[in-house]
Amino acid sequence: MRGGFWGVRLCCIGIGGEVDALRCKQRVMRSWNYGRSWKMSEQPSKKFGFSSRGRRSVDQPISYLIAKAVENPDLISLAAGLVDYETLPGEESLEILKDILGDKKRSEAALQYGMTEGSGELRDELYKHFCELEGMSEAEFTGSAKDIVVSTGSQQLLHMLADLVLDEGDVVISSWPSYFVFTGVLSAMGSTVRSVDIDEGGMKPEELDKMLASYEATGQLDRVKMVYLVSYHQNPTGITLAEERKPEILEIVKKYSKNHKILIIEDAAYRELTYGGKAPASMKVWDKDNEYVALLQTFSKPFAPGYKTGYGLIPTDLIDGLILNKGGRDFGSSNLAQHVLAEAMRRGVFKKHVEKLCAKYAEKRDAMLEALEKYVGPLAPNEIEWTNPSGGLYVWLTLPEGIDTGKDGKLFAKKLEKGVIGVPGVYCYPDDPAREIPVNKIRLSFGTPTKEQVVEGIKRLGEAIAHVLEEEGVAKK
Ligand SMILES: Cc1ncc(COP(=O)(O)O)c(C=O)c1O
Repeated sequence: MRGGFWGVRLCCIGIGGEVDALRCKQRVMRSWNYGRSWKMSEQPSKKFGFSSRGRRSVDQPISYLIAKAVENPDLISLAAGLVDYETLPGEESLEILKDILGDKKRSEAALQYGMTEGSGELRDELYKHFCELEGMSEAEFTGSAKDIVVSTGSQQLLHMLADLVLDEGDVVISSWPSYFVFTGVLSAMGSTVRSVDIDEGGMKPEELDKMLASYEATGQLDRVKMVYLVSYHQNPTGITLAEERKPEILEIVKKYSKNHKILIIEDAAYRELTYGGKAPASMKVWDKDNEYVALLQTFSKPFAPGYKTGYGLIPTDLIDGLILNKGGRDFGSSNLAQHVLAEAMRRGVFKKHVEKLCAKYAEKRDAMLEALEKYVGPLAPNEIEWTNPSGGLYVWLTLPEGIDTGKDGKLFAKKLEKGVIGVPGVYCYPDDPAREIPVNKIRLSFGTPTKEQVVEGIKRLGEAIAHVLEEEGVAKK
């Protein structure tokens, strides 16, 4: 950047970790100056030589969007995947922290380094939690708490698993769209991300089968190392993978696991956030011998992202390698956080909190759906649709074909003018070389805004859409 400054400091406040992820779409390296201003003349003349992986780190087109959000404090963000502020468990955390830090022995244990794989106490609690969610007794599954690895958010676990099984050029099959933070990481690692269509029941098993068959037919099956799916209330669509598809997908993956096993990552980040009805069992129920499926969960969504603690039930074959990998990274995630979380689970605080969260989010989800019905649907009844999630934080909106929701489209500018933002759908698709990304989608989140803001945000969105539809000549039908 000219004018005496080197680099740009982008303010990410209020947008959260996804900001980093959304960098994954623009292939520009950017420098950060963290408040210092370096004169051009002071710049070192030599540059660092980035590795090929480093060069594939990418910038975010959303930086523009963030800057706009910061410029306009009245703007309602339906973009961020952050959780509800009001329900964060501050008091509960304080109580537990006081008890831990007030007891010399416990305090010493919690403030010391912990185990690379995670605290034994927390892993025991997590295993009980897993069995409870599945409705299974511990005896019905051949695994144990020893198969659990605790991580610095489930994002770290995703990254480590990819690091462990993927070489450059290997293929990962995901869904279309998918959790773009991870698919962006995969692309930056040099993997080829292919994608399978979803419908209201999630990933279509027959499409997965077809894709694997085509790799086999061309003698390239050995390149396929992983199938990645977000099975509950998917980010970005809110869609849940139907329970009956889970054993089917597992069998397909087994069928094509010829010279090596293909790893299934079942990312269940939003599992606990199920609002009414019973959430489906995880794929682990069918992977009884703990062979193919890494089931990943997190405290970020059902409790508090500030703990940045995730965990996974890892296939037996991978567990030692994964612990070694983690050892080389950080030899263990925050021990204090794990002590607090284990206590929160033991005391029932976690469970109570999930119930409270679900009630609050269900209200906000309903408010968003009602507002869409009122302010957006009637604008082009046969050409606008949205998902009806049974949980999670997201609704996926489809506008008439040809309406570009991207940052250079008319709608984006109009939304800013009206004072609302969502995530343009183009950022939510993997870089699948064989596909063209649709431009008429928007991810809407009801995580951080209040119920009133959700309604007002959708009203403003409706006004912006109405304006663009009129300009484009898309009449009400
Ligand atoms: C589908 C999905 N998986 C994983 C994560 C990572 O969350 P964390 O690292 O905070 O556990 C997120 C965060 O938004 C997510 O949406």
